[in-house]
Amino acid sequence: MLLYIDGTVRNESRTRELADYLAGKISDNVEYLRLCEKNILPMDTQTLSMREKLCNKKDFENPYFVYAKQFVKADTIILAAPYWDLSFPSIVKAYLENICVVGLTFSYSSEGMPVGNCRAKKLYYVTTAGGKIINESYGYGYTADLAKGMFGIKEVQLIKAENLDIIGSDVNGIMLEAKKEIDKLF
Ligand SMILES: Cc1cc2nc3c(=O)[nH]c(=O)nc-3n(C[C@H](O)[C@H](O)[C@H](O)COP(=O)(O)O)c2cc1C
Repeated sequence: MLLYIDGTVRNESRTRELADYLAGKISDNVEYLRLCEKNILPMDTQTLSMREKLCNKKDFENPYFVYAKQFVKADTIILAAPYWDLSFPSIVKAYLENICVVGLTFSYSSEGMPVGNCRAKKLYYVTTAGGKIINESYGYGYTADLAKGMFGIKEVQLIKAENLDIIGSDVNGIMLEAKKEIDKLF
């Protein structure tokens, strides 16, 4: 199963256009999750306390864990996340916070190191930017570290299109080039 996590916000999203194109190359068996359409919230005092109690009991039947369980069983993952304020929209962070669940997506080794429990071999991070991505660490880099270091997903691939909002940019040309880069991966 391909899990396509759509962290885009705009209806006419270029990031989603690229991610759709990529998804079409990977699999017909897709679970599509548009974060903005779900009630995905940042952790608050009550949710954190509830989650800790359930994790301690290893009771993962609560609906709260539906996204973490979906993430664990995916074979391949696409995360579509536009470049916002040097990283990505906050809904993406809220989602990642929701799926970092001890006992589900990862466990701790006896030395206290996270060990990933996720099945996916590869995660594609798809982004587009109005200008140049001046530092990849905050969006792609952070997600790649999380995927490799916590979830156990060995390969993370960045797909990007930059300078889309620069006056005079050939937007169609840039998008076409990004799609050609995707073609080369298959
Ligand atoms: C809230 C917001 C923050 C943004 N921050 C940046 C930024 O820090 N650097 C940049 O180059 N472009 C920035 N942009 C422009 C977007 O990266 C660009 O328009 C991108 O293609 C949007 O993706 P989308 O078409 O998938 O919505 C921002 C746009 C929005 C709406």
